[in-house]
Amino acid sequence: MIVHIVTVLPELLESPFAHSILKRAQQKGLASVVVHNLRDFSSDKHKSVDDYAFGGGAGMVMMIEPIVNCLEFLKKEHGVEEVIYMTPDGERFSQNMANQLSLKTNIAILCGHYKGIDERVREHFITREISIGDYVLSGGELAAAVVSDAVIRLIPGVLNDETSALTDSFQDNLLAPPVYTRPAEFRGLKVPDILISGNTPKIEKWRFEKAVERTKQRRPDLLDE
Ligand code: ADE
Repeated sequence: MIVHIVTVLPELLESPFAHSILKRAQQKGLASVVVHNLRDFSSDKHKSVDDYAFGGGAGMVMMIEPIVNCLEFLKKEHGVEEVIYMTPDGERFSQNMANQLSLKTNIAILCGHYKGIDERVREHFITREISIGDYVLSGGELAAAVVSDAVIRLIPGVLNDETSALTDSFQDNLLAPPVYTRPAEFRGLKVPDILISGNTPKIEKWRFEKAVERTKQRRPDLLDE
């Protein structure tokens, strides 16, 4: 899978993909993240990407021309099939959406800034709008990194058995059960006996019950779905 991220702040996206699982996914050739600087697609001599809003009001709006130049380049040269716009008024991001996106081979993610992007881009060039939650970030970059991380780790081969996504929270509408590691006792705080019993079927049953209990307590809405 190739994830193309379109931004006016490419520096913000250098670190999230340079470590750990996302770095290894790229080294293994399973995923690739390509960051595009929107200014490179501006045709004016100042490389402008924003302008005043028609009708007045505070705040700048990202211009249609550089965005469309960039998206057309990505479709033509890279066969991009899905163009996602990160915005707080988009559809709420979920594990289900991450699962769907992990099946694509080429996606583009456009990061908004200022007061947003010219509405004509949203109407005619964007295929999906995603919000990562009901709060407003300074720009779409961190949100794009969140979505890319959640999607790339689901690509077959990215995670090994030990970190398998199948046991993640949300994967079956259940939160993950509690986990423990050595020592079995710390200042009188003990690990549940069942986990050191070696009885695998009982451990699995315990984990399932704990997952259900935790979901009932913290996210009963997930059990209704
Ligand atoms: N850009 C700014 N805030 C955002 C949010 N909550 N989700 C996605 N993109 C955003």
